Amino acid sequence: GLPPALFARLVAWQRTHGRSHLPWQHTRDPYRVWLSEIMLQQTQVVTVLGYYERFLARCPTVSDLAAAPADEVMALWSGLGYYSRARNLHACAQQVVARFGGVFPRTSAELQTLPGIGPSTAAAIAAFCFGERISIMDGNVKRVLSRALGFDGDLAQAANERALSALAQALVPADASHDDMIAYTQGLMDLGASLCARSQPQCLLCPLSADCRALAGGTPDAYPVKTRK
Ligand code: ADE
Repeated sequence: GLPPALFARLVAWQRTHGRSHLPWQHTRDPYRVWLSEIMLQQTQVVTVLGYYERFLARCPTVSDLAAAPADEVMALWSGLGYYSRARNLHACAQQVVARFGGVFPRTSAELQTLPGIGPSTAAAIAAFCFGERISIMDGNVKRVLSRALGFDGDLAQAANERALSALAQALVPADASHDDMIAYTQGLMDLGASLCARSQPQCLLCPLSADCRALAGGTPDAYPVKTRK
């Protein structure tokens, strides 16, 4: 079976050791959380901070972004790279206005119908803003979970990705509160960005070490298993 204490240990660790001063952690506004998640997909936190503030100063709401000229959106994004993100961002804002009256939908399933919002971003928005009991599955999180669970299926195969997602869902208690979901979601990312690094993980300091199957097997570095496609 799955380690029952894993969720609670991660929530407690995030509250004492995780990050708590990032600007997008102090809001449940889906527009702000969405903007931060898209910016953070391929860009480091330190770089995102300035862009995030400038973007919000010019476009404080999703309706402002939808109405902004495309060249202005591209100028606000200039320097962040991966410019398809900016085009999708603008298209997404316009669809939120046109299809949802300017109000972001509240479920990960509906969020995924919007341009540029994949399963992991949808889960992050739904968990942070609406307390949905769903697990984000970005690269760092897949590493943390595959190690903790000793999941050795090759993540280059979609069926194994789905299997790990299903296990991740099963880790979330049915009665988890919105505040717990915020700490859990951020905790998975914070652990993946710090102690549970790709190489030389700091297992002695890790809140999950007592449960971690990869550590018990002696080879945390061997996870996640992912061959090149
Ligand atoms: N990377 C992706 N989402 C993040 C978040 N909410 N905080 C820090 N880094 C992130």
